[in-house]
Amino acid sequence: MIIHPIKAFADNYIWCIQEETEAVVVDPGTANDVLDFLEEKQLRLAAILLTHKHEDHTGGVLEVMARHPECQIYGPKETETLANHVVEEGDTFNLLGHPIQVFETAGHTHGHISFLMGNSLFCGDALFSAGCGRVFTGDYEAQYETLQKFKRLDEDIHIYPGHEYTETNLRFAYDTQPDNEKIFNALKKVRDLREKGEPTLPTTIGREKEINLFLRAETLEDFIELRNARDDF
Ligand SMILES: [Fe+2]
Repeated sequence: MIIHPIKAFADNYIWCIQEETEAVVVDPGTANDVLDFLEEKQLRLAAILLTHKHEDHTGGVLEVMARHPECQIYGPKETETLANHVVEEGDTFNLLGHPIQVFETAGHTHGHISFLMGNSLFCGDALFSAGCGRVFTGDYEAQYETLQKFKRLDEDIHIYPGHEYTETNLRFAYDTQPDNEKIFNALKKVRDLREKGEPTLPTTIGREKEINLFLRAETLEDFIELRNARDDF
């Protein structure tokens, strides 16, 4: 299994999971970049996974479907106008010969879900490297619970979020904890990667437990304070 990033808009990643000549794409916010990639690699699109309803994660679905009409679309109820398989917490299904588990990871939107495929977690805007999604729902408790859920996963799980926000997140973390050496070193490394135009992702659960202040927040109150400070950063 190879996982490719397809860059879209200013800072989105549409992840393309390839198994031999078949592919699955996650959150195609735009169609052209996806169609070009599939064409270039001569891949048959088996399925699309949707983590949540936002346009920058779903905007390309219809156009991709038009070119790959046999492809199946899995998403939460909030994407039911697009998804022909509405899935929820606890559901499992198989794609490209791999089992996929569905987790409810609400907070950013009410219906946000994440997909665990083997050792790879596709978490949309629920978790970023050194950050987490803005709580547009106002349900901070749900987002806090989502973070606790991620913390319970194996540390070697690779995380594929929907955006390249790592550098800004680490600047915020460094601003909040200027004496934290792990955050300082992570920021240095991430700046090097970004200067070369390289993705800072995937990350892992183990790494995020060290550098992600949102994952490290020990109470709901601490999390809310941190999230509000990040919103104003
Ligand atoms: Fe979003």
